[in-house]
Amino acid sequence: MRQRFFLLSICLLVSGCSGAESDKEQMPANPEASNPSLQFRIADEEIRRVDLETMKAALPTHRLDFFDHMYGKRKRYLAFALQDVLQMAYAEKWKPASFTDVAFQALDGYEAVAEVAKTVEEGGYLCFADLEVTDWEPISRKQASPGPFYLVWTGARQTPEHAYPWPWQLASISIVNFAEEYPQVYPRGLSVDSPVYAGFQLFKQRCVRCHAMNRDGGKIGPDLNAPQSILAYRSEQMVRELIKRPSDYRYTHMPDHRDLSEADLDHLIEYFRHKRNEVNGIGRE
Ligand code: HEC
Repeated sequence: MRQRFFLLSICLLVSGCSGAESDKEQMPANPEASNPSLQFRIADEEIRRVDLETMKAALPTHRLDFFDHMYGKRKRYLAFALQDVLQMAYAEKWKPASFTDVAFQALDGYEAVAEVAKTVEEGGYLCFADLEVTDWEPISRKQASPGPFYLVWTGARQTPEHAYPWPWQLASISIVNFAEEYPQVYPRGLSVDSPVYAGFQLFKQRCVRCHAMNRDGGKIGPDLNAPQSILAYRSEQMVRELIKRPSDYRYTHMPDHRDLSEADLDHLIEYFRHKRNEVNGIGRE
């Protein structure tokens, strides 16, 4: 691997020390655009909305300089530590043991779900200013602006491939108990070290935002278990191919998953097989 991921000088910005900085840090002229807010929820219920100025007053600001996987190059931002943001917003309700996942929703409805364990790691930052351009440098094929809030991870292993969420245009954060939120996606009665459970974890991290099981989950792609399991009408080999490299077969919104190993695909198939057998009697209708 040629790329080196590094985390250079993440330093605390003491307020008032930026006078000598040559970076562009002025806020945009429009006051509404300069003080966007972020919504915080528990499942579907909004518990708070916090604006940028309030966060700046309450939290330390960090200056990031690191390899941003979304841009494929080094970038510099002003950011808050994700942990600080979550702790401030949820306060006494921030009890990582009592829920399983944190969902990050973007303005366009995109949702990324991450296990709680990931969100309490060091290295997650909520960026609120791009230090290289006055506004934000456009991102992705769509050339979207990642602001007003953009979630990044600075650790070498904290990549999208390792299921760290990197939403841009972040609008809302929600803490959820996955089993309660998506009861039909959850595999019942299994030990957490079984292959089916590993498949479920992958499905949760990579697929559920677009696909449902028994109508629980995303609506962008087809339901993969109802009214019939995907394994009932496609061969196992075809399912593996359509997960790993759909772009070899069709023009589609389904992304390729070329980083998945054969073991990962085995686990997903085991999960689909389990859900197929589970469907009778547990389906909603
Ligand atoms: C960004 C949304 C998106 C994500 C993420 C996504 N898919 Fe899809 N998927 C789709 C769409 C849309 C289709 C509909 C058929 C097509 O366009 O290829 C599809 C089709 C499929 C099919 C083929 C269905 C058929 O019968 O042709 C399978 C299997 C599948 N997805 C499995 C998965 C799995 C497993 C994951 C996670 C590893 C996943 N998908 C992630 C959007 C997505």
